[in-house]
Amino acid sequence: MLRRLHPEQPSDFAFTPSNAKWAKGQIAKYPEGRQASAIIPLLWRAQEQEGWLSRPAIEGVAEMLDMPYIRALEVATFYFMFQLQPVGTVAHVQVCGTTSCMICGAEDLIGVCREKIADTAHEISADGKFSWEEVECLGACTNAPMVQIGKDFYEDLTTDSFSEVLDAFARGEVPRPGPQNGRFSCEPKSGLNALSDFVMPAITGNGSVARAEAMADTIKRIDGSDPAYTDPSQSGSAKPAAAKKPARKATEKLSKPPVKAAAPTTKGEGKRPEALKAARGGVADDLKLIKGVGPKLEKLCNKLGFYHFDQIAAWKSSEIKWVDENLEGFKGRVTRDDWVRQAKTLAAGGETEFSRKNRGRA
Ligand code: FES
Repeated sequence: MLRRLHPEQPSDFAFTPSNAKWAKGQIAKYPEGRQASAIIPLLWRAQEQEGWLSRPAIEGVAEMLDMPYIRALEVATFYFMFQLQPVGTVAHVQVCGTTSCMICGAEDLIGVCREKIADTAHEISADGKFSWEEVECLGACTNAPMVQIGKDFYEDLTTDSFSEVLDAFARGEVPRPGPQNGRFSCEPKSGLNALSDFVMPAITGNGSVARAEAMADTIKRIDGSDPAYTDPSQSGSAKPAAAKKPARKATEKLSKPPVKAAAPTTKGEGKRPEALKAARGGVADDLKLIKGVGPKLEKLCNKLGFYHFDQIAAWKSSEIKWVDENLEGFKGRVTRDDWVRQAKTLAAGGETEFSRKNRGRA
């Protein structure tokens, strides 16, 4: 299946302040220079916040991680868990269509989706509330057929019970997840035939169901306003669920400003290299062909007046020292990645191993 960016994109993206703080915490888990390892959690959080991954979201995350855009796009397009098109504002239904579910009635559930949501997968319903898709095995085969909605599984479905689940969502309710046929979890449908003296706990649902219910609205977008989603590793304790709040429309223009690189400051020792007000002829070199320079660092270099390989190639040790000091958030990168040696090769029309692999990709 071809996975492409949606033709209609919002103009910008920004994490909510709370999610931005969470993202910083994730990035801090990795050693200097390895921040790109946080790509999946950050893309996932962006999707949880907006409902889907837009191009500005993918690029915003790439900038936060100092990665070429193409690398972040590769991740976003590779994993099917990332939605590259707007989804329903209330629920995106993932119907398992693999063997157990298919044998037990997945096609009938897809029929319900076609009837109640839209005729084709990834199409948004007329009221904008729902969308659906067929997915591979979700690991709940014993409770087939099943669907995933938001973070929850709805299992042991029939066309009737699935229709009721969708109707409840449409009314603004969040139906209880888990088995919909009275099973506690995945014990035999006909009753226990081993450990038969086991007494089912006197609670209304298994652990997953109980947790989902405690969190209240489990399909809520994570916009940072719901304390139930606070990362326990950052807060130290779980908090009660917040009141319901309508999900943001996936295509709605965001009111927060986009993530921006911090303005560089001039400080430290060394000599400031000669800078340009703009790229010569209005066309800058692709500084990202220097290994270690990502989109964010390239912007920072341009802001400092460095647009061309030959400028960097000409830096003397005192100038390297100045630039190393003034790369806000990226101190010491010029020396660490030996920009000058790479820039000399590129300025002379040659290629480095890195530029050969990456030219034209970002
Ligand atoms: S086949 Fe549907 S959950 Fe495994």
